[in-house]
Order: sequence, then C-alpha cells, then structure tokens
Amino acid sequence: MYEQVAHSLLNDILNRIKPEICQQDLRHFYTRLGANFYAIHSLFEKLYGERDDFEQQMLSLVETMAKRYIQRSDELRQRDLQREKDHNWFLSQKWVGMALYCKGFADDLPGLRGRLNYFQELGVNLIHVMPIMPCPEGSSDGGYAVSDFQKIDPRIGTLQNLNDLAGEMRQREILLVLDVVVNHTSNRHYWAEQARSGNPVYQDYYYTFTTRSVPDMFEQSMPEIFPENAPGNFTWDEEMGRWVMTVFNDYQWDLNYSNPAVFIEMLNIILFWANQGADILRLDAVAFLWKKIGSTCQNEREAHLILQVLKDCCQVTAPGVLFIAEAIVAPGEVSKYFGEDAVIAKECEIAYNATLMALLWDAVATKNTRLLNQGIRSLPIKLERATWLNYVRCHDDIGLGFDDRDILHADYHPLEHRKFLIDYFTGRFAESHARGLPFGQNHKTGDARISGSLASLVGLEYALELGDERAIDDAIKLILLLHSLIMSFGGIPLLYYGDALGTLNDDSYRDDPEKKGDTRWVHRPAIDWQKAARRNTPGSIEYKIFSALKRMIAVRKEIAVFADFNNRELLDVQNPHLFVFGRYPLHHQQGHVLVVANFNRKPQHLAFDDLGTWKPRHGRPVDLYKGESPDIFNRSLVIPGFSFYWLEVS
Ligand code: GLC
Ligand code: GLC
Repeated sequence: MYEQVAHSLLNDILNRIKPEICQQDLRHFYTRLGANFYAIHSLFEKLYGERDDFEQQMLSLVETMAKRYIQRSDELRQRDLQREKDHNWFLSQKWVGMALYCKGFADDLPGLRGRLNYFQELGVNLIHVMPIMPCPEGSSDGGYAVSDFQKIDPRIGTLQNLNDLAGEMRQREILLVLDVVVNHTSNRHYWAEQARSGNPVYQDYYYTFTTRSVPDMFEQSMPEIFPENAPGNFTWDEEMGRWVMTVFNDYQWDLNYSNPAVFIEMLNIILFWANQGADILRLDAVAFLWKKIGSTCQNEREAHLILQVLKDCCQVTAPGVLFIAEAIVAPGEVSKYFGEDAVIAKECEIAYNATLMALLWDAVATKNTRLLNQGIRSLPIKLERATWLNYVRCHDDIGLGFDDRDILHADYHPLEHRKFLIDYFTGRFAESHARGLPFGQNHKTGDARISGSLASLVGLEYALELGDERAIDDAIKLILLLHSLIMSFGGIPLLYYGDALGTLNDDSYRDDPEKKGDTRWVHRPAIDWQKAARRNTPGSIEYKIFSALKRMIAVRKEIAVFADFNNRELLDVQNPHLFVFGRYPLHHQQGHVLVVANFNRKPQHLAFDDLGTWKPRHGRPVDLYKGESPDIFNRSLVIPGFSFYWLEVS
C-alpha cells in the first residue's frame, strides 16, 4: 500500500539511516520494507504516535530490522526466499513436532544433536527446544525467567553448539522451534538490576510504583495466574523501594510495552534468535502483553497490535520465520492470535490449540464426547494461512478453559463439572485410575488446574502398580486414541517428550527445594535412555506405544487431506461416545477420510444413516492406520473400546 505520509517518513528514514547500513546489498530488505512499511507505520503510530520522539523511535525500529538483516546468513536468506515462494509450506501434513527440555532429553545441546536419529526413527521433524537462555538458579520457572536474552545457559551449551545443531537439523529437514519469552524478564536481568539501582530509563521498562494505589486498582480486575506460589500481581522490591508488576512468579517482572524502547529491544531479540537458525519462534504468554486498569490484562487489543507489528517487522528481516502464539485463553479469544486479516492484520501463523487439548481430557474423564463435540462446534474459524499446534500434553498444567455456555449445552453444571474433572484427574473420584496432581489451586475462586504425565493421567501408573493387564492395555489404547486425534484434526501435532515411551510421573521434584512447590515438575522428566531402548523390544510397553505412534506418524504423512486447509467437517452422530469428523480434499480430488474415535471402554456402533454424504460408497471402508476393514453389523460400523479409525471413504 502506498500512502503519502508513511512514504515520506520512509524517505526521511532512508536518508538518515547509518552509512554502514546503506553500503550493503539490501534489495530484498527494501522491497519487503516497502511492502510492509505502511502497516508498520500505522500500527506503530496507534501504539506510540502520541510521543514526541515517535519519528526517532521509527528510525530506530527500521535500523534494528536492517542490522539484523545484514547479520542474517546467506543460507537463511535463501531459505526465506524459498518460503516466500512456497508460503503455505507449514500447512502440510508432513510436519510432526515434539516439545522437550534439552536438559531432560539429552543433558545439553551437543547431546541433543547426538540424538537426532531418535526423532527420525519416530518420524518427528519439528523440535521445540524449550528455553535454553540463562536463568537465576532457584528462580527459573523452568527457563521462563530469563536473565540474558542473547546467551545460552552455559550448562546447556554455547551459541556455536546451537548453530551446529540448527545446521544439522536443516540438513536433515527438521525444523527448529525456540522460545522468546516476550512478556517478562527475570528480576536478575540487566534491565531489572538497572531499575533496582534507581535508573529511571530502566524503571520505565517495567511497571513500577512507589505506592499501592495503582497496583490496588489493577488488582480489582486481574486474576491470579499462580495463586499458590505467587499470589497477587505485584511484588515489593525492597532495594528499589517500589512495587513492580509480576503477573507470574514474584521473580518474573512484566515488561512495559507502552514504552517503544521495550518493543524495539524485544524485536531485536526475536530477530537475533531468527538469525541463530530458528525456523519458528514460540512467543510466550502473548495474551498478557498489554496491561490496562479495569481489565483482566489479557487479550487486550493492543496486545494484538504489538503482535501485528512484530510479525510485519519479522517479515521484513526474516520472512521465512514463523511465530507460535502461546495464548492459553478462552476458545473465542485464541483464534484472534492468528490475526484478523491475512494482509493487513496478521499475527502468529500457529497457535496452541488449548481448546482441543482440554476438551480431549474432558472426553477421557467422562468417557463421552458431549462437551468435546459442543466445544469444537463453537471453535471460531481461523484465517486461511494459519494452523493449530495440536497437543495432548505439554510442560504446563491442563487448564479447564472451556466456555461455560458449552458446558451448559452439554448438560452439565459448570462449577460441578469442573470439580468432577479435578477430582477425576487427581484420582479422588472413585472409578478414576488417573494419578494427576492439582496445580494453581485458588481457594478464593475454587479454581484448579491439573499436572501429571500423559501415561499417569490415563491410568498406566495405576495399572502397573496393580499388575492389571487389561488396565495396562486400556491406558495404552487411550494414549494412542488421543494421539490419533491430534494427528488427524488439522494442524501440526506436537508430541511431548517422554509420551512416546509411556513415561510416568516423576516424583523426584519433591526433593528439590526449587521445584517442590510447583507440581508441573512431575511431568518434566529426564529421559531414561536405558528404558527408552525397550522401544525395540516387542511386547514391552515402550514398544507398544512407540511403534504404534511411529506407524501413525508415517500414515499421517501420506494422507493429503490431513493437511490443514480448514477442510474438516464435524459430524453430528447419535452415539454420545464417539467423536467423528471428516477431512475432505479441496478441488474435487479423491481421498475423503472419516475419523472416528471411541472414548468409551466398550465397543460402540456408528450407524451408517448418521453419516450422510460420508457414508462409505462401495463395500467396506478401509482403515488407513491398520490397513484393515472394520466390522459392520446391522448397517453400523463397530468401533472397539478406546479405539479409532482413519477410514478411506471415497
Ligand atoms: C508460559 C510457559 C510457562 C510459564 C509461563 C510464564 O505459559 O509455558 O511454563 O510458567 O509462561 O513464563
Ligand atoms: C500460561 C497460561 C496458564 C498456565 C500458566 C502456567 O501463561 O496462560 O494457563 O497455567 O502459563 O503453566
């Protein structure tokens, strides 16, 4: 878009830009800057246009983008160009991800590099390495309390190690995902130290107050994220003599994005990691980026504007790099993080599908799919060039973030139903085999979330203790059932390290004073590679899970309609234990696939009459996963307990 005011400002900026920048070959940089400048300018103006130094800040923004472009390697620039050509590359069904802690998975970065075969054995070709930047000992929040954004924790490795890893991953065609913790810093970050010592420039990087009056106003509408360990949203810093906003733990200081200097610093850091070879950056806690008195300080419009400028700027410097939004918020809010418009208001290409995740767990507990079906039906349509990250477990807790209206629609009482789910997963409910732990219990609101490893939550730990073969079998079936859905739903499936091996809860965190107050550590294991070797021993639990997932991944990659082009139709079927959806090809191709999942322990039937146009045309449909045809009885498909089908129906 050509608009006079923005363009004449751009001319000014290009005149004033530093000579060392001008001398470079910046052709691609300038065409992209020209294309995005109008959007960048108007968004930046909405956020910071009132300031006297606005034009100076714009200049500094453009210089930041240009400097990072100059530092970008030829190899990465080439990849940018390829991806600009094939801009929907990430919607393909060929991608399958895994999230892991470097330390827990392989000790350090060289160790991780040494284990790349493991991913290829399983079929995983996208690896999210959770934060590897330095954090103060004892107050790290598992890597999310960063004290230096451009270094690597020396215990994990060096920047050179990371570059080597990224290089080898590129050769193997495995994508690298890294975190940028955009919402807050550690209280030991340089900026925080400066603020503490009284430097007003850095005090303005955070929200600090000499009295309680503003904090008290904020508190009236802000929920508590960690009510047990870090109640309230402000912390008194004795040395600074000020209150500072700390939405998460008291040692995580929220950054003040109403200050453009903060925005530019964080853009610089995002581009730094893009230049280290990350294909995708996971932006942590993005819902929290803007704070406003009288609001929950989540999902504010300005938080979206910030993400839009970050995206536009990243497209100028490193257009091949994608963003993941980590926004674990209400179903109606999540899809807004894709942006509202593919050209002028784009945000993150990928977002965590926390809605599907929580709904799947509801179906596990209730053994029916009433809420799952209802919740998916109310999931808003997303932009075309956007996709979900579908997951069953991750390093965080499971929040029961359903919409109350959906719970009512499914004929439950919201409060009672949530209580049932907590009781179920913490094993308090009589018939439950789950071994989860409560997380973030809020005695004021009655709220709680759930920690626990996948295997322990679906009853494997319980079954092993009892030596109950049938229960062991059920737990394994549930693990596979849940994965069959994240692999077929549409989006990038993200496995959690350890889950492909049936890793149980790890109670050792209780002996560590840094960890014992945070139950999420129960599901952040160190992989036992001797046990992992059993994945090659037929008959072992590790083998049963690993080999099945390996097959599932291989089959997924061959099913073209599993790519995410919003080509999914949810089917309304009579049987309340089933979750059924169809994946259809675009442009009248062949290859419709019907996905059927049974959350009940007993076999269920799916009447052909429920299937409408999805009714199998000729004879018996074939399940692409097993390669066999399911049983048919009385014009119904028979679906064994805790099982799924991926049926080819045309
Ligand atoms: C994100 C992380 C979580 C962390 C929080 C605060 O939600 O996933 O682990 O505690 O941000 O940084
Ligand atoms: C994230 C999520 C919240 C989660 C927390 C810690 O910011 O919004 O749901 O519980 O981090 O795990």
